[in-house]
Amino acid sequence: AYVIADPCIDVKDGDCTVACPVDCIYEGGRMFYIHPGECINCGLCLSVCPVDAISWDEEIPQHRVHFKAVNHDFFGPG
Ligand code: SF4
Ligand code: F3S
Repeated sequence: AYVIADPCIDVKDGDCTVACPVDCIYEGGRMFYIHPGECINCGLCLSVCPVDAISWDEEIPQHRVHFKAVNHDFFGPG
């Protein structure tokens, strides 16, 4: 799945949610999160984010790897 990281915090541009064909990007507090089970890996959100906050989960920069868990945990167990 794709993952949103720290550049989204307090920016929350929201264009990613418009681009997403399956509406799997959710707002929560200071940033948005991608539901790892609902994301179909289309990559359409990647290029529209003005602050480059979104990464494919196998290519996340090292300093942002923990955001994979942050996105996952936002949606809770199951
Ligand atoms: Fe939505 Fe596609 Fe981005 Fe996944 S990769 S969050 S399905 S736009
Ligand atoms: Fe955040 Fe970028 Fe989407 S700033 S809300 S990940 S377009």
